[in-house]
Amino acid sequence: MGTLKTQDAGRIDTLIGRMTLTEKLGQLTMMSASHTVTGPVITGHSVSDIRSGRIGNLLNLIGAAAAREMQRVAVEESRLGIPLLIGLDVIHGHRTLFPPPLAEAALFDAQAWALTAREAAREAAADGITMTFAPMLDVSRDPRWGRTVEGPGESAWVGARLAQAKVRGFQGADLAARDSIAAVAKHFCGYGAVTAGREYASVDVSDRALLEVHLPPFAAAVDAGVAAVMPAFTDLAGIPMTAHSGMLRGRLRRQLGFEGVVVSDYNAVAELIQHGVAADLIEAAALALEAGVDIDMVSGAYLEGLPAALERGLVGLAQIDESVRRVLTLKARLGLFEDPYGRGAAAESAAVVAERRRLARDIAARSIVLLTNGSGALPLPAGIGRLALLGPLADAPAEMRGPWWSAADPDAQVSVLAGIRAALPQAQIRHASGCGIADPDDSGIAGALQLCDGTEAVVLCLGEAATMSGEAASRAHPGLPGRQQELAEAVLRRAGARAIPVIAVLFSGRPLIVPWLAERASALLAAWFPGCEAGHAVADVLTGRTSPSGRTPITWPRAVGQIPLFFGQRSGGRPADLAGPFASRYIDESTGPLFPFGHGLTYGRFTLSHPRVTPQSARASDTVEVRVDVENHGPRRAQETVFLFTRRMKSRVAPPTLELHGVGKIALDAGASGTLTLPLALEELRAPGLDLEPALEPGAIEILVGPSADRASLLTCRLELVD
Ligand code: NOJ
Repeated sequence: MGTLKTQDAGRIDTLIGRMTLTEKLGQLTMMSASHTVTGPVITGHSVSDIRSGRIGNLLNLIGAAAAREMQRVAVEESRLGIPLLIGLDVIHGHRTLFPPPLAEAALFDAQAWALTAREAAREAAADGITMTFAPMLDVSRDPRWGRTVEGPGESAWVGARLAQAKVRGFQGADLAARDSIAAVAKHFCGYGAVTAGREYASVDVSDRALLEVHLPPFAAAVDAGVAAVMPAFTDLAGIPMTAHSGMLRGRLRRQLGFEGVVVSDYNAVAELIQHGVAADLIEAAALALEAGVDIDMVSGAYLEGLPAALERGLVGLAQIDESVRRVLTLKARLGLFEDPYGRGAAAESAAVVAERRRLARDIAARSIVLLTNGSGALPLPAGIGRLALLGPLADAPAEMRGPWWSAADPDAQVSVLAGIRAALPQAQIRHASGCGIADPDDSGIAGALQLCDGTEAVVLCLGEAATMSGEAASRAHPGLPGRQQELAEAVLRRAGARAIPVIAVLFSGRPLIVPWLAERASALLAAWFPGCEAGHAVADVLTGRTSPSGRTPITWPRAVGQIPLFFGQRSGGRPADLAGPFASRYIDESTGPLFPFGHGLTYGRFTLSHPRVTPQSARASDTVEVRVDVENHGPRRAQETVFLFTRRMKSRVAPPTLELHGVGKIALDAGASGTLTLPLALEELRAPGLDLEPALEPGAIEILVGPSADRASLLTCRLELVD
């Protein structure tokens, strides 16, 4: 938690000494101030509850004036004058929207991750916000799960780097600064492994999976000093996370050393009744407090239930005081006692906002993944004269926002149509949506087809609506919704017959399962949800102003039946490539993905050679250096991304076939070559700071470097680990 100033520690003791039980419970309560809710609307509270001390924290309060007024009531009109925490889901931007975390993960660039969090924090703080419910760190290997879009993708290693960068970005160098906000690492823990990818469903994973996959990003967030943690809605092997003392007090606080605030998810304390572990709000409140949940978000269980729980002896006053102390400590660390109106005091200048939009464009363009470009259809030829822009996402500015839009204005998003018009002012752009995103109406398809004739290229914008991924948006059929496949197939036929290239751009919060499209489109791009500068970013990539450099942070399946599909699988005793029928394969589908983790093309053409490690033998505490030569044979300058994987040749526990331990990037002019150096700290090869692997066993470690997790593309060298 960082050290508190002595006067703050004294102030907190004095306050706790003076507080009534209601005032204490008010500090442990966060209520929703507006209709931006992600569950049932909880009513029955008002500003007078802030005045009386019954409500000590708010969420979903938008706008500097509103935040200031509520803060004023708390500070000037409540008996003890304690300022409020004001929380909001600032997930991928506040007013200026960046691409969502899954798309940002595609940059594999920790500096960029930190930068967008910093900018989002500055913008939110200028609106009086003190806390964001981010970063979301749930590793997901299941694209059916809608919330895959909110997290780092399938790799725990990426999740841990993203966690650190985001915490650093949101909280800044000094949490008390007016432009810093408290980060909340969520959802602790394992939410990404919900049964069958179904939202809010039960989670039942092994200790090993927890330690290897789900905990590392949280361990990294705690290391980076994250202010708060939110338990997941879900249960873990039957124990709801909101009541999971072993995970919250045990793993999180004792093992990882977390000293900050645990804030429940929306209504999650009351939902312990529905989980079937509490009979009423009294038991629910007691279970959550007992497990170490400090703040009850909106359920009212603490306010209503804890007095009776105290009387019954289910909880003690010391436990309540302990949680109150943590909440007040966070308020002190945020500088709220000294400077309650600091955040939101000054509006940002137009220049700052414009600069932020430039960043949004750059990040969005770099998040786009060029999945195929077989016939070299991209970049579009310079001076292209006639283009058809089709599909329901071509002129859908509000959809570009993605799953969380905080305070963003739906009209401030740039559509693909607007972006392409701006980028190609000389070209004649014909536009039609052809069909809706998800509705059954196909009456526009025939008209759209006609627009193809006589053009030099067709750009087909397909995918999901913004609300089709994110919370409560799991999909059993994660393909193209509505009549989009029909539209695409008709366009591919029509344009194909006229030898017109069709470039398909997918907008989605998950890998969409569209093998037929990948095979038939001249080029295929994953644009995710690019945010406010969507159209400009897409145009930058299509026209070649930016050479694409995004890489998919999640394996892209070719069939729903392959899920979960990820690069870190264990080989088993009868791996897929074993000859004969008794191997780990399907009889009706390939075992390989449509696109492997890390896949993404550029407008360059790179070859890698001569992988080497120095020294070639090392101890478990050493850091070695892995080098590989990279040459750009392509016609243009571009940036290559190189992944560093390891494979332990033998270990007491069967090792995953690939473990990610590094990513490097190198930009090279056409015809140029260079050497990329990637450090590898061997400590990392152990399960991250937790308790499963006592030590790294001596022996051979294979080091694999290459442009993706596709085994065939990886070059190898060996390291000998010695005692
Ligand atoms: C529910 C979501 O699970 C969580 O991620 C979010 O922060 C809260 N609602 C608050 O909106």
